[in-house]
Amino acid sequence: MSDLLDQARAVRENAHAPYSKFKVGAALRTPSGKVFQGCNVENVAYPEGTCAEAGAIAAMCAAGEYEIAEIAVIADSPDPVPPCGGCRQKLAEFAKGDAKVTLATTGGQSKVTTVAELLPGAFGKDHMS
Ligand code: THU
Repeated sequence: MSDLLDQARAVRENAHAPYSKFKVGAALRTPSGKVFQGCNVENVAYPEGTCAEAGAIAAMCAAGEYEIAEIAVIADSPDPVPPCGGCRQKLAEFAKGDAKVTLATTGGQSKVTTVAELLPGAFGKDHMS
């Protein structure tokens, strides 16, 4: 796990967050063992920005992989930052409910949870006929 958190910490350095000044890094591992990283990228048209988790998911899909086995997210905050609602939905679409999610701070705190705990009763393709 710590290597995944190290990868999230490293990519956070590349975050583009000139508006919020809040840099976030994410690293996910797929069942094949590959790791994909992402950082938040903000835009002056604020809603156009993308979260670190979304960046890591985009990198995973670009490589032809579509399942998250585990993910770590890190930010410089007083407490481990919970993913936003949109990212919870994205995680639920690409991970099983029991996939491990580690939320960490640059100060050394961390909290371990799961995708299902973050978004119980998630809407998914199984709900569409
Ligand atoms: N942000 C993430 O990248 N991931 C999260 O889990 C929480 C929030 C970003 C979005 C925006 O660029 C900045 O943090 C402030 O909301």
